[in-house]
Amino acid sequence: MNPVDVPWAARTRGLGGSIIDSSTTLLQRQTHDIVSFAMGSPAAEVVPSEAFSEIYSSLLATNGAEVFGYGATEGETALRDELLAYLETTPERTSAERLIITSGGMQGLDLAGKLFVDPGDLVIVEAPTYTNGSATLLAYGADIVEAPIDDDGMMVGALPELVQKAGRLPKAIYVIPNFQNPTGTAMSLERRRLLLALAREWQSIIIDDDPYGMLRFDHMHIPGFRELGGGDPLVFSVRTFSKILAPGLRVGWVDADPTIVAKLIDAKQTMDTCTNVPNQLLSAEFLRRGELEPHLGRLRSEYHRRMRAMQASLEKHFAGQATWTNPQGGFFLWLTFGDHVDTSKLFDAAVRNGVAFIPGRAFSVTGGFGNALRLCFASQTPERSELGISRLADTLSTLSV
Ligand SMILES: Cc1ncc(COP(=O)(O)O)c(C=O)c1O
Repeated sequence: MNPVDVPWAARTRGLGGSIIDSSTTLLQRQTHDIVSFAMGSPAAEVVPSEAFSEIYSSLLATNGAEVFGYGATEGETALRDELLAYLETTPERTSAERLIITSGGMQGLDLAGKLFVDPGDLVIVEAPTYTNGSATLLAYGADIVEAPIDDDGMMVGALPELVQKAGRLPKAIYVIPNFQNPTGTAMSLERRRLLLALAREWQSIIIDDDPYGMLRFDHMHIPGFRELGGGDPLVFSVRTFSKILAPGLRVGWVDADPTIVAKLIDAKQTMDTCTNVPNQLLSAEFLRRGELEPHLGRLRSEYHRRMRAMQASLEKHFAGQATWTNPQGGFFLWLTFGDHVDTSKLFDAAVRNGVAFIPGRAFSVTGGFGNALRLCFASQTPERSELGISRLADTLSTLSV
């Protein structure tokens, strides 16, 4: 069949895929040594694989083949109970009827698109924003408007003018409040309050995507939308174990109004029936053993160390040539060069030279940020990070991009 003859559904026009995810395939094909700052992956060294292996063995020994059965769409009771108990000890305490277990944060975002976005609906996103988040919204036909960000997160004060220009109210506002992907910045409390007030005035859903909030380096907590909203149905909170346990588990959750959760269950039943059962039981047992909090403590100090090491390497190799953000948590740091640098062109040469990152353009639906790039500091040791940053500097100096 000629490709043009494929009887595509109209919605495939919005399917752009993800440059971030495609980079995994591209990098796996390379045979030479590459220091990858590309994917937002937890450090391999801190994934609790020994505990996982022990828990899997005991799950199998105790439950046998039952572990591999279909599960309830809303999630395994063991995980729901343990998660509720854990959240009770955090500012995100919630209740059973507000909770649905999802196949990672991505499924939470996809469900948000499915429930709230009709083709042509206006959706506001941060610029730059998480590629897969905007790609998901585009796949549902969203008409995306980008709102600028600075060191205090989305510039919420700019929204009324953007909305006025668009000539209609936003159906949803997609925001990553803590240690944003890709810049690493966090939204100030004042802006969170203002955004919530605007969402209430406009009756817009806040898609509150927060995979990194538990990975704050200091202990200063900024109340999130879940907390500030006090159960407001307009706040749709997407969470995941990917960054705090392991991304391959594909286990996350959504906290939303009970009426919305009922619809989410219907929607998830047409997607994947239930989230991976063995991995839900694994996560539940990890929580039951009280391992999550000490694990988070180790992650926070290790990632802080890695972030500082990356900043020291940047200072050594890029002082005067670029600026970078100063994240107080999470995984990412954002590097901005002068306008003459094109990081998309830099990418191929950098990979050949043994270092990978995600070019800035990947994070904008309008093709902005061509002179910036995202670095994940979490996945590399300080020694590997220094090697990668020095390779990046060498690549830049031998190339006029
Ligand atoms: C902001 C943000 N949201 C959602 C996700 C997706 O999480 P998951 O891997 O659990 O699907 C990521 C992963 O990088 C992310 O950075």
